[in-house]
Amino acid sequence: MASNSRWIFLHANDSHLGSPRSYRFRPAINQRWAAIQQQMAEMQPEFLLHGGDLTRDGDTHEQEYQLARADLDTLPFPTFVIPGNMDVGNKHTEQTGTMRPWDDTKLNMTADRLDLFSSYFGAPHWTFLFRDVRFTGFFAGLAGSGLLHEARFWRMLELLPELPQARQHVAVMHYWPFMESLDEPDWDITNDDEYNNWYFSIGQPHRARLWELLKRAAVDILFCGHVHTRRPVQVVDGIRIYRTCAAGNTAQLAERWEDADTRFGFHRCEVTVDGIDVEFIAGEDQCDEFGTFGPWGHPNIEERDYSQAQEHPPLEPK
Ligand SMILES: [Fe+2]
Ligand SMILES: [Fe+2]
Repeated sequence: MASNSRWIFLHANDSHLGSPRSYRFRPAINQRWAAIQQQMAEMQPEFLLHGGDLTRDGDTHEQEYQLARADLDTLPFPTFVIPGNMDVGNKHTEQTGTMRPWDDTKLNMTADRLDLFSSYFGAPHWTFLFRDVRFTGFFAGLAGSGLLHEARFWRMLELLPELPQARQHVAVMHYWPFMESLDEPDWDITNDDEYNNWYFSIGQPHRARLWELLKRAAVDILFCGHVHTRRPVQVVDGIRIYRTCAAGNTAQLAERWEDADTRFGFHRCEVTVDGIDVEFIAGEDQCDEFGTFGPWGHPNIEERDYSQAQEHPPLEPK
């Protein structure tokens, strides 16, 4: 265990624990995550920040919440969790894209789902001080939803400057705040060329509002996941943005960038008197897919075939 002047915390996202009792399953994801958990345990960190997408289909399978909860509880350190879209539903939209075979409006997150998630993993937004470092987690995918949870999300961010200040401020979100630059346009879900950008990032005017609040809160480090692809650190307004590899699921959009890192892994963060040193640690099991069954993407419940489950009884969507 580290001393007070030198200590370790970890960050990971997109572990997407799945089940052979589901209509789809990718055992490779579970296997990659299991190896990462073993590596993390050996580092004896103070805690893990999990940036969302703990489950494959938690937004419609409460049993996957139970699975992921039990899984986190095997770790020999505390975990602080925010939801991802696969856990509670996607960003809200009143329009659907045309380039995907599902109806995006049916994937909007709901208040009930957020509350159910919280009953297993705690509030979706939190902030705490630990050894003179502030840690803040939030689910920005709520922006524009109009849910009560959205009001709480903005309120917490607005309150941050009034809380006791720390030497460093580390924030965790699930979506990327933007694809390439803060001033890029709002993305149109109905435009096929922009669908992915809409899906993976925070749209306007929420992006600008969020960024202003992060600056005001003196955030130094911002971790985000969701795309499953790692990019070089980007520094904007003094905030170091870490777009993080997935802790098990496959990289997306990797063909866009020559410097995309498609490995599975997590962040080891060492806090010293000089600051926070963030190091990417590749998972020790980078196995290829095996034994995969079922469709990809976001199939609506009525389109799923639970008779495909390889273990019985199959999960029930609820
Ligand atoms: Fe994910
Ligand atoms: Fe995600």
